[in-house]
Amino acid sequence: MVRKFCLLLAFLFLSNASAEAQKAPLTSTASPTITAPSSWKNQRGSELKIATIDSSGAFNGEYINNAAGFDCQGVPFDVSGHNSGNDIAFSVTWKNATKNCGSITVWHGTLTGDTMNTTWELAYGDDKTGNITILSGQDIFQRN
Ligand code: BTN
Repeated sequence: MVRKFCLLLAFLFLSNASAEAQKAPLTSTASPTITAPSSWKNQRGSELKIATIDSSGAFNGEYINNAAGFDCQGVPFDVSGHNSGNDIAFSVTWKNATKNCGSITVWHGTLTGDTMNTTWELAYGDDKTGNITILSGQDIFQRN
């Protein structure tokens, strides 16, 4: 079960990295376009707070899920990601000091001004069967 989950995480990150790599320019790495600190809110009311970003575009912050129909609501979770030019990707493992939803979400998308259009994949495992389920959807974040 743990091995399956690790393989799934590796797959999600590698497929995202591959997608980002295909979109990136061949000759150079684009500079990051997002700034830190910055706060973003999506159409579900969830909040992405980017606290730090380095010159390579790697960033860290916190994510507060306020989306109806999901668990792990209303408390901050660590988020980390990467921004290169208009491309952005970030992920949250839904485990903090007080709550563990046993799931992980990866978002990837595009920045246009103060709007971030993303698609996401949410993976969670069934402890009894070991089966992994993947949900997907879209989130649009606006900079506050
Ligand atoms: C879980 O229910 O297992 C953890 C919370 C998942 C919240 C999802 S992630 C994609 C979508 N966008 C949000 O802002 N929240 C939901």
